[in-house]
Amino acid sequence: MKTVIEVLSDIFMKAFENAGFDADLGRVVVSARPDLCQYQVNGAMGAAKLYHKAPFMIANDVLAQVKENDIIEKVEVVNPGFINITVKDKFVSSYMQDMLNAADCGFEKIKNPKTVVIDYGGPNVAKTLHVGHLRSAVIGEALKRMNRFYGNKVIGDAHLGEFGLQMGLIIHELSLRKPDLPYFDENYDGEYPKEPPFTLKDLEEIYPFASAKSKEDEEYLNAARQATAEMQKGRRGYRALWRHIINVSVPDLKRNYKRLDVDFDLWLGESDVESYIPDMVAEMKKGGFAYLSEGALVVDVKEDSDSQPIPPCIVLKSDGSAIYETTDLATLVQREKDFHPDRVMYVVDKRQFLHFERVFRCAKKTGIVPSNTELSFIGFGTVNGKDGKPFKTRAGGTMKLSDMIDMVEDAVHVKDEESMAPEEVKELAKIIGLAAIKYGDLMNPTESNYIFDLDKFTSFEGNTGPYILYTMVRIKSILAKLNEKNSGVMNNVKFTDFTCDSERDLALTLTRFSHTVKEAVKKDAPSMLCSYIYEISNKFNVFYHDKKILAEENETVLSSLVALITLTLNVLNICTNLLGFKAPEKM
Ligand code: ARG
Repeated sequence: MKTVIEVLSDIFMKAFENAGFDADLGRVVVSARPDLCQYQVNGAMGAAKLYHKAPFMIANDVLAQVKENDIIEKVEVVNPGFINITVKDKFVSSYMQDMLNAADCGFEKIKNPKTVVIDYGGPNVAKTLHVGHLRSAVIGEALKRMNRFYGNKVIGDAHLGEFGLQMGLIIHELSLRKPDLPYFDENYDGEYPKEPPFTLKDLEEIYPFASAKSKEDEEYLNAARQATAEMQKGRRGYRALWRHIINVSVPDLKRNYKRLDVDFDLWLGESDVESYIPDMVAEMKKGGFAYLSEGALVVDVKEDSDSQPIPPCIVLKSDGSAIYETTDLATLVQREKDFHPDRVMYVVDKRQFLHFERVFRCAKKTGIVPSNTELSFIGFGTVNGKDGKPFKTRAGGTMKLSDMIDMVEDAVHVKDEESMAPEEVKELAKIIGLAAIKYGDLMNPTESNYIFDLDKFTSFEGNTGPYILYTMVRIKSILAKLNEKNSGVMNNVKFTDFTCDSERDLALTLTRFSHTVKEAVKKDAPSMLCSYIYEISNKFNVFYHDKKILAEENETVLSSLVALITLTLNVLNICTNLLGFKAPEKM
């Protein structure tokens, strides 16, 4: 189905053209003044400059070209040249009827889908997921679902961090604690034990310990770097330990992502692109892009237009080892070869902007990716505590993601608790908790920081995930009651005339579904979907108070009311699913 904006734009673009102006000026937008009109065209102001004519006159010329039709109820020109549009109720009703009968509420997938790789999650092996990993997972998952719904071919990759210094730190620390393990004996050529020499709990203690120590002890840090380089070069024992670390850590990462209902198509890691590095480096040298600077191999990426200094992109460290830049560049080689993507999106903490800016420039300059491949950095802000500083545990430490989810599930208040079995309450707390976390995150513009406010996020009132779910559950319960009472009405529901203003208000908002989803996808903005479902929920609740649906006796009216609330629920279902959460049956 065409979006309402497209349907109206067709009319006004043609009118602009027939009046002798550029058709593009006739694009319709949602009204900025809903008290005056529903839609508007602002092109007359732009036309005034191009055609040297007063905008008011231009708008009137255009209006003269708009023929009587079944769509527009009222159209008028207001100063200085806005064209204000109100559509016919009948058009809104029939559009909703089509939405109700179509799949996906009439959303039409794009004709020319793009291949999009989304790099999100970004967990690091051996480090427990913490609050700093929340946003990449939640935003990336939403962008993945939104792009897929839009029609793009999407590949989500977790891009596991497992080839860097953290591995060297663990290996080195282990060599101090358990020097007798065969992994450290360079002359050992037997099989290594199948059982890892540590548990997940051990790793959770070893890594922070080693990391802290490396910050104070230069010699220790150097030894860990050395171990990293040797591990990368393929030292047998170190590779065996490396495998153990991955095998112990990845199932735990997967468990945590599952709790967030976040799921990746690929679990590739930094090490998976190891084999691409030598050729990539050779090409960069051959092309005259890479040169040695203080022992490291670098590529200049600064541009004349830069207002700040942009340091060169380091391709290899002086000891020949791969660093963050190296694996990100080689990953682009791999992605180009495997998927030839039109776009690669990176959902990463916005403080990593400069890293990606340099990697992107280097990849374009050296021809790793074609010049028309879009490389997008989707940088997100920090999750803060009420003090405005990065969110911490009460004791001042970094909060583990699993603890954070537990905390939210505990805080969720299930209304009908007494009437439910304990497992049911638990299950419900999970569903509501997930909505609280994800909505609380996604409602903010991605690049903004936000305050993680447990009481606010879990409240059933206000702009929150549980409020959205509560609205959906309310609709479900009305439909269930009507079904019990009068199942005849539930079949073949049909929209008829609106019976009150709040009904029309809700209806108009629902007809903007396709347009809103398209805009949210184009702008990489899940927050636009959050605003949209909040608006729908508010409008539904006003309507619900105005209209006693359950008491309605006129079957025609009732049928229309059922159609409206069913469509409301359908739209909310799709949007919440795109955002990555869902509504329970009751709560
Ligand atoms: N593991 C990285 C970190 O914790 C994030 C990875 C982001 N993605 C990427 N391709 N570099 O900072």
